[in-house]
Amino acid sequence: MVIVKVPASTANLGPGFDSLGMALSLYAWVGMSAAEETKFHLYGEQMAGIPEDKSNLIYQVAQLVFERAGVVMPELEISMYSDIPLTRGLGSSASAIVGALTAANALIGSPFEFEELFQIASSLEKHPDNVGASLFGGIIAAYWDGADARHIRLDAGDKLEALVAIPDFQLSTEKARHVLPSSVPMKDAVFNIGHSNLLVAALCTGRYDMLRLAMKDALHQPYRSALIPGMAEVLTGAAEHGALGIALSGAGPTLIALMEASAGDKARLEVFLAETLNTHGVSASMQWLKPSGTGATVLTRDGDPRTFMETVKGDVSA
Ligand code: HSE
Repeated sequence: MVIVKVPASTANLGPGFDSLGMALSLYAWVGMSAAEETKFHLYGEQMAGIPEDKSNLIYQVAQLVFERAGVVMPELEISMYSDIPLTRGLGSSASAIVGALTAANALIGSPFEFEELFQIASSLEKHPDNVGASLFGGIIAAYWDGADARHIRLDAGDKLEALVAIPDFQLSTEKARHVLPSSVPMKDAVFNIGHSNLLVAALCTGRYDMLRLAMKDALHQPYRSALIPGMAEVLTGAAEHGALGIALSGAGPTLIALMEASAGDKARLEVFLAETLNTHGVSASMQWLKPSGTGATVLTRDGDPRTFMETVKGDVSA
């Protein structure tokens, strides 16, 4: 059995719509082996409602890899455990796609480079930000033009920490993309180009003092804020409560605030986010995460006697 560990991700980081992503220290694990008959072992509350037949996303994506490699492997035993909440803007579907691609590739002797898996993942997700971050780890600046995906990976370093406020309601990416206009004023496009450029430069150079301004966005957040009660107030007030910068995580509804890992008063920001959302009738769970420097990683080697969940538990407690 091959076991792959994949990080969650946050996309956009404000202005980098569909083009910036950062891997986060929250993980999913996918196990895969050839079998006589297709079987699924889905563990944990995040797996509720996930299909356990050949319509399963992991199965389908794995078959895509085998087809491209000219390998026939119609029956698979698939295991999955995930700590990444579904449909909240933390890249759960991207992590599943990346987990399936990486596991299937490893299972047949890794005929594809990660770069090729990135092309497949981008064409499945239709944007490269979440899949790029989950696959490569760190921070990814990328584009996908409908045919070709390109990226440059930046080291996320160890000086940043992220507070995610995960509302207890789901918001599909489809719904959150549906509220976006099909064209935007030139001034908004220029606003985003400037801010996104500044953001990438700030991340490359460690100029975190610039994040507060650089993470502002005019292309998607103003439209999406109507879907997340309290979001506008959180975006406006987070800096006064200690955030270096704040944004909607991907398509939402999760909000992500960045802070210096060494900062003292973290509780102040946490209380502000929780109380502001609460005032608007939204209860949210709070988690402190770190940027994940590692992307998709194959954990098992031949002869490892541990079961899937033994490997996952060993890894979580490591
Ligand atoms: N960049 C995408 C969006 C991410 O904002 O719609 C979705 O996960």
